[in-house]
Amino acid sequence: MKIKTFKTFTITFFIFLFGFYACSQDSYLDTELTTEKRVELLLNEMTLEEKIGQMCQYVGEVSSNANGNEDEKVNYILGLNERVELIKKGEIGSFLKVSTYKEANYLQELASQSRLKIPLLIATDAIHGHGMYNGATTIYPTEIGIASSFDTTLAFNIAKYTAREMRATGYHWSFSPNIEISRDPRWGRNGECFGEDPYLVTKMGCAMINGYQGNGFKQKENVLACAKHFVAGGIPYNGLNGAPADISERTLYECFFPPFKAAIENNVFTIMPAHNEINGIPCHAHKTYLTDLIRNEWGFKGFYISDWMDIERLYTTHKVVDSESKAFDLSVNAGLDMHMHGPNFLENVKKSVVEGRIDESRINDAVRKIIYAKFQLGLFENRYIDSAQVSKVLLNKEHLDLALLSARESIVLLKNKNHLLPLSKKVNSIFITGPSASNSQSILGDWARIQPEENVTTVLEGIGLLTSPKTKINYLECTRFDTINTEILVKATKMSQLSDLAIVVIGENSSRFQTSKTSGENLDRMTLEPPGNQLELVKAIKKSGKPIVVVLINGGPIASEWLSENADVIIEAWEPGMYGGQAIAEVIFGDYNPGGRLPITIPRSVGHIQSFYNHKPSAFHRGYLFQSEREPLFEFGYGLSFTEFKYDNLEIKQKHNINEDVSIKFTIENTGEYDGDEVVLIYMNDLFSSVTTPVKKLIHFDRIHLKQNEKKEITIVVPVEKFGFFNEDMNYVIEPGDFEILIGNKLLSSKITIE
Ligand code: GLC
Repeated sequence: MKIKTFKTFTITFFIFLFGFYACSQDSYLDTELTTEKRVELLLNEMTLEEKIGQMCQYVGEVSSNANGNEDEKVNYILGLNERVELIKKGEIGSFLKVSTYKEANYLQELASQSRLKIPLLIATDAIHGHGMYNGATTIYPTEIGIASSFDTTLAFNIAKYTAREMRATGYHWSFSPNIEISRDPRWGRNGECFGEDPYLVTKMGCAMINGYQGNGFKQKENVLACAKHFVAGGIPYNGLNGAPADISERTLYECFFPPFKAAIENNVFTIMPAHNEINGIPCHAHKTYLTDLIRNEWGFKGFYISDWMDIERLYTTHKVVDSESKAFDLSVNAGLDMHMHGPNFLENVKKSVVEGRIDESRINDAVRKIIYAKFQLGLFENRYIDSAQVSKVLLNKEHLDLALLSARESIVLLKNKNHLLPLSKKVNSIFITGPSASNSQSILGDWARIQPEENVTTVLEGIGLLTSPKTKINYLECTRFDTINTEILVKATKMSQLSDLAIVVIGENSSRFQTSKTSGENLDRMTLEPPGNQLELVKAIKKSGKPIVVVLINGGPIASEWLSENADVIIEAWEPGMYGGQAIAEVIFGDYNPGGRLPITIPRSVGHIQSFYNHKPSAFHRGYLFQSEREPLFEFGYGLSFTEFKYDNLEIKQKHNINEDVSIKFTIENTGEYDGDEVVLIYMNDLFSSVTTPVKKLIHFDRIHLKQNEKKEITIVVPVEKFGFFNEDMNYVIEPGDFEILIGNKLLSSKITIE
């Protein structure tokens, strides 16, 4: 009996002891602990495979492209069953191209079966709404249009509301904002960028980062943002996506780095390197930039995600290593933290750690940031979504109202000859045609799946909604740029002759789910004129002698001297999103007074590239053979209104010392016949400097609303740092001397001296 009692006591004691030990051991699942503590606790429990598993991103349900084929099917590599097994083993940390919330929940359930139950990060390219979701969502204008609004609050709210629709459907990370500087209009991705000016790109990019992430992505409606692509993919030396960028260190520091440096100061938590090489070193292998500069000097606290198969391309395309395994080693040692996408990465990196080519501390650093994000997002506690919430969040009224407001604010009026606009709604007859007149998808822009027709207002529909029932609309359908044949051209001339005026909707099509796609990722141009016979269509209408309103739907600048001379009205609508047709019609008939401005210069022709406003003094020292005209067709900052604004009463101190901010005061008065928005642009020009500096540089912008006859006093304080530059030794200095302050396009100007 005694032995039995002793055995019982001993067993009980050790159960208690273990139990006590277990309870006294903090668990990474304990929400009372700090995120940092939970990260360390979890990291200590992970095997090497589980750690590297967190660095692996895979693709979810195969998404089809416009031809109905599976997107680069070969790149999906593993079948779903194999991916299921890897998830259960804890060897996948993230997914992209997940189709719907059902798939997201399914993948999370699989991850909950793994040993440590680490949830998955679900990522998507939600760059102007949750557009790649396989269901109807709110689609806003693309970034080129958001930038045209010069309204950072708009950018913030678009990101904030997009994040809501993402989290409601089980997505946690948007590969956005694209904060590349657009300096080559041939490049197909200008539509998803904020234009050519570093200050505008910086302000818009940071506004979206703050909209996506909130304060530390701790709220249920926050997602991770991703500053991309580092760096200079927007100036490939032949205009082709992913081609080399070869630019001076000075230009990098003056122009291409500032948006990323500011993004890091705004705590962006992920960064995506660019496809291209920069000055001979592929961005995915650039340790000097990724680690020494961005992490150690700029203080980046988050993690890098590779772009699509770009680590492998170090071997297959850039050829800086002679094997795929060396590509993984090179990139991980340069600072890359997560691989997009697929197998081989884990096995190779594990082997390299075991064999000493990659230190495990590098793996630990990467994994810390990835699991930190998962804890901070609350995924361990809330990895599944409630399907009942989905319909309440997607396309809710607040989101739809913003879609309309942003479409309106994004429109730029480039020409309005003889004040043809606003048109009377009682106009007798209108001829309408053009590939984007009734296309409900091209108006949405890139990174948006096919949306239900009933969710999108086309230009044709928008005009029909605003004109009187007595107005005769003569519509000639030509749904594609490449089907405008002689028959259509002849009809266009005749039908416009029978109408009071013509509205022709031309440009590009960035929809990656339509076979008529002519713009967007990997569709770069060797001309800046609209593709196909679109110009011939306008010329056919011109023969009628009737006024022509041209509406441009496009991501990158459309440059045609003929068009800018012969169209009576040119509305640059970019890719205005789901309510673009309504907003365009409101501008045509005066229900909305356009206030947008160009965020990118429209050159005179493709032969005039490079053409941007903040060029150096000698850029146009000479003209071209046979063309004395050197100015672009329309420069950065240009845009018309139906009303007039008078700038006056400029007050600015003439002399400033070197550490004194510059205060600028002036008045703006709406002296015209319409209420309207005015984008206030303030530039400076360093008149003489020890290295060449731009002829002008944007240092402040604001979008204000003024009713008819309303007058506002504006006071702006510009940090004196804005007057500096990188000197010959690449030190950022403010050089005493004379500067010119330019308000608008020389609406007001004044010289100041900094001593
Ligand atoms: C693409 C793009 C990148 C995008 C990624 C995932 O190659 O370069 O911007 O986020 O793949 O779709």
